[in-house]
Amino acid sequence: MASLEGIQSKTQEIRDLTRMERTGAQSHIRGLGLDDSLEPRKISQGMVGQIEARRAAGIIMKMITQGKIAGRAILIGGQPGTGKTAIALGMAKSLGEDVPFTMLAGSEIFSLEMSKTEALIQAFRKSIGVRIREEAEIIEGEVLEIEIDKSVQSGAKSGKITLKTTDMEAIYDLGQKMIESIQKEKIQAGDIITIDKASGKISKLGRSIARSGDYDTVGSSSRFVQCPEGELHKRKEVVHTVTLHEVDVINSRTQGFMALFAGDIGEIKQEVRDQIDTKVSEWREEGRAEIVPGVLFIDEVHMLDIECFSYLNRALESESAPIVIMATNRGMTKIRGTNYMAPHGIPLDLLDRLLIIQTTPYNEKETQQILQIRCQEEDVEISDKALKLLTKIGMETSLRYSIHLITTANLVAIKRKSPEVDVEDVRRVYGLFIDIKRSSKFLQDYQSEFLFYEADDIDDKDVEMA
Ligand SMILES: Nc1ncnc2c1ncn2[C@@H]1O[C@H](COP(=O)(O)OP(=O)(O)OP(=O)(O)O)[C@@H](O)[C@H]1O
Ligand SMILES: [Mg+2]
Repeated sequence: MASLEGIQSKTQEIRDLTRMERTGAQSHIRGLGLDDSLEPRKISQGMVGQIEARRAAGIIMKMITQGKIAGRAILIGGQPGTGKTAIALGMAKSLGEDVPFTMLAGSEIFSLEMSKTEALIQAFRKSIGVRIREEAEIIEGEVLEIEIDKSVQSGAKSGKITLKTTDMEAIYDLGQKMIESIQKEKIQAGDIITIDKASGKISKLGRSIARSGDYDTVGSSSRFVQCPEGELHKRKEVVHTVTLHEVDVINSRTQGFMALFAGDIGEIKQEVRDQIDTKVSEWREEGRAEIVPGVLFIDEVHMLDIECFSYLNRALESESAPIVIMATNRGMTKIRGTNYMAPHGIPLDLLDRLLIIQTTPYNEKETQQILQIRCQEEDVEISDKALKLLTKIGMETSLRYSIHLITTANLVAIKRKSPEVDVEDVRRVYGLFIDIKRSSKFLQDYQSEFLFYEADDIDDKDVEMA
């Protein structure tokens, strides 16, 4: 077992890999669209209407940013397509950079190659940040000269770099790795750089102001900085935030090759987690770290089963629990894994702990505004009449269905070489792609012609909120 001292927290690389922007149905949502006093603006940051729910979400945001409360859980309930997922993502966008936000769909838990509770524990720990202060030893100075030689025989590179401050100057040998990163970052004489002594990582701070006259070597994007003063070697405090899960993963990988058999990440041993928790609380006592409770969003929470709910119940009690936001579009339905019915398919003891936010269906004006925003997001020009028609379709079928028609109608418009979507394009795709009502009517009408039909078997209690 790795000793406690060996617990690492440097996870920048992993983070770079795991944080990718999602695009798609919610890509127009850039925040909750609240003003400074947390009042929702009618249309802002891609958000339209749903004022009450957004106001409630704003209050929760405030609780989160104050960072004092732990273990609070919120449920967003409402009909399909009323913006529950959109609101949760709006909250995520308005959280600070280093506040972790994890999104999990209820059904995902059953498809991961680990036990349900392990998946939940990991999701919880992904949503708890640790802000760590560390002293790093760095070399900071202006580059005077770089000399790189390539050996004729082996092809290996070696080199030297001369750095200066306003007070001193020194020459350093360069290793293979550093030469590569110098070439990658295109570092040249006149740049101000820092070298992290522990990792050898080189970063460019900008061009020296003294060089601001050399137009040949300077791109328009260059930033000018002063040549540093004093010593080349410095100690600098760096603050970085990692999630508990990231610390878990890194430290369970270093356990040796046996860890390989458990899969790349797989299940993490409870001992490792206990050790890390102890270490983190030591760091907190020493003032080197603080906990940043983040947000865990569980969409379609009715897909969780009774074991998951009982885990949630217990996990919410823990001192460093994140804020858990759940969303569902179910009314009365069975709690998965039991024969009991419950509101939203959630056991009463858990329901009792939840603050519930409700989303309500959109009126015509709001529907039109959302569709308009989606057209802008997808770079689709649309005529007023076509937008009106699309809105009408949205009101009669569903918002989602009419959002889908935007993309397809645009393709049809492009095909007939029209710069904008017009009524005829919307009509055409409305005929090509049917909505649920028409689809199920079609199935009912032709039921007898299908070999198998199960229409009578559908559990009619397990229906979406009406
Ligand atoms: N208030 C809003 N402002 C802007 N866009 C919205 C708003 N509400 C919903 N949308 C958009 O409408 C689409 C459907 O909304 P969303 O996916 O959030 O619904 P939902 O309530 O999560 O539905 P479900 O219960 O089916 O999961 C999304 O593309 C979403 O971005
Ligand atoms: Mg949703």
